[in-house]
Amino acid sequence: MSKKLISSIALISVATFLSAGDFNAVAEKDRKALQEYMEKKFSDLKGASTFFPYSTKDELEKNFIWGIKGKDFTIGSYSFNKGGKSQYDEINEMPPYEDAIDEGKEIYEKKFANGKSFKDCYPDPAIAGDYPKFDNKSKTVITLTNSINSCLKDNGEKEWKKTKGKLAKLEAYFASTSKEKGKKVNVVIDSKEAAEAYERGKKEYYTQRGYLNLSCASCHVQGAGKRVRNEYMSPLLGQTTHFPVYRLKWEGLGTLERRLKGCEKDTGQNPHKPGTKWQNEVLYFVAYMSNGLPIDGPSVRK
Ligand code: HEC
Repeated sequence: MSKKLISSIALISVATFLSAGDFNAVAEKDRKALQEYMEKKFSDLKGASTFFPYSTKDELEKNFIWGIKGKDFTIGSYSFNKGGKSQYDEINEMPPYEDAIDEGKEIYEKKFANGKSFKDCYPDPAIAGDYPKFDNKSKTVITLTNSINSCLKDNGEKEWKKTKGKLAKLEAYFASTSKEKGKKVNVVIDSKEAAEAYERGKKEYYTQRGYLNLSCASCHVQGAGKRVRNEYMSPLLGQTTHFPVYRLKWEGLGTLERRLKGCEKDTGQNPHKPGTKWQNEVLYFVAYMSNGLPIDGPSVRK
């Protein structure tokens, strides 16, 4: 047997061994490969002809910021788009989401009819990076949005809209507290079922659909850095670090669930319902890809 073959067999058995206890081994491999791909894609103008064959040299020279790495990706398309970045910096001089954070704090502290409050569900509000979570009891992915609604329900309150309003404001408070405390995205895969949910989410992310036959990845992996209409598409890496966002188009705050719905609609599809299994598993995958990046929310987007 050749040396090469023996060593690849050894590698395979190591991989099998890992998958027995290390439920996030595949996800970690995916995450590292994605980071490497994105850092390479945006490393310098020299490699640009491989990654951006349809962009003119002029555009790549004038409009792009190169050499972006790791946590730079938390600002999405503004990480590489010069014009967008300067608009972003300008808006951030007077961030339009400041009031929402204050209102979120009030919501966090306000008593429910039963005398309890969100504080009882979340003694520490710096939790934005810990979701989505896989709940090994119910064997389902739970987003922060789902969790907030469960807290309401458990306390005899009515559930809230999953895309904007009070729920988004509370999430803005959680995000800003997490950012202040230097929290990072920390999505956990700690069981076989969790790893399977991750795999399903990943598969959906890469599945092409709609009359344009596009997948999420067509736009946010292969397509990251390219333009659709007048917008540069952000990389999958860093896509969940900063939600909820204040979107100029919405003239208000929206959750990740709202954003996903919009992306699906834009590709001519009937979008999946916010907060349901399909979205949650896709988000489990998407958020895992940002593991280790700092929380940077709430934020502002076009
Ligand atoms: C036709 C291309 C296209 C497809 C397909 C698409 N998106 Fe998007 N997406 C966009 C554009 C354009 C934006 C706004 C610019 C940006 O931030 O990327 C966006 C924004 C986002 C954002 C917010 C990024 C940020 O920094 O705030 C997330 C998250 C996202 N998309 C996830 C998804 C997911 C998940 C799917 C698949 C269900 C998907 N998108 C499918 C084009 C697309």
